[in-house]
Amino acid sequence: MKIIVVSNYDEMSKIAAEFIGKEIKSKRNSVLGLATGGTPLGTYTKLIQMHKKGELDFTSVKTFNLDEYLGLSPKDKNSYHFFMWDNLFKHININPANVQIPKGDTDNPAKFCQWYEDRIKQAGGVDLQLLGIGRDGHIAFNEPGSPFDSRTRIVGLSQETLEDNARFFEKGQEVPCQAITMGVGTILEAKNILLIANGAKKAEICAKFIEGQPSEEISASALQKHKNVTIILDKEAASKLKNKV
Ligand code: PGA
Repeated sequence: MKIIVVSNYDEMSKIAAEFIGKEIKSKRNSVLGLATGGTPLGTYTKLIQMHKKGELDFTSVKTFNLDEYLGLSPKDKNSYHFFMWDNLFKHININPANVQIPKGDTDNPAKFCQWYEDRIKQAGGVDLQLLGIGRDGHIAFNEPGSPFDSRTRIVGLSQETLEDNARFFEKGQEVPCQAITMGVGTILEAKNILLIANGAKKAEICAKFIEGQPSEEISASALQKHKNVTIILDKEAASKLKNKV
């Protein structure tokens, strides 16, 4: 795994956006795996700026999002569907037909999960997967204990994740306790993976998944098995690494 430590969130976002931009420039019909949360917001802002400056064309780019809350419709303001359109897609020239986000209000979740896996395969697989990481080590919504060969499926969310994500919901609104998520095995099939993390809250888990023994109790540690992983950390998130980069 290649580890890059930068000084702050802004620099992390800039380098991540340049990394994604390079992928799109080298292959205009790239298949991107995309993430939600606070971490990638700055990266999306930079990608939008690059697009507005005429540097990036998304016409032929395909995207697959990692996850979605079960039970939320795409119109729900708390859905990841809404998040992605609001924070990225509506600002760039992506073809809506090329955007895939798990359907939170599907009436047949098991069938939908298989369909999502098939769509990724039909697209030729993910060229570059962007990931954040949860404090409990989750990538997408693969909570501790997720098998390294898990596929897209319905999962329950950990207490820690529910508490962390409550900040995106209005007071009194409950965070859904289940989600559809790509599996760890699905994610590991991406040709190239970029994980970003910032802030002191992520320092402990970053040290564990990068330097500890791979374990299904820390989903992100599965990335140690992948040949093409880049990790961009700000200095706070990198502060507990034993081997200084
Ligand atoms: P965050 O979430 O970017 O909001 O910290 C990361 C994650 O849960 O994957």
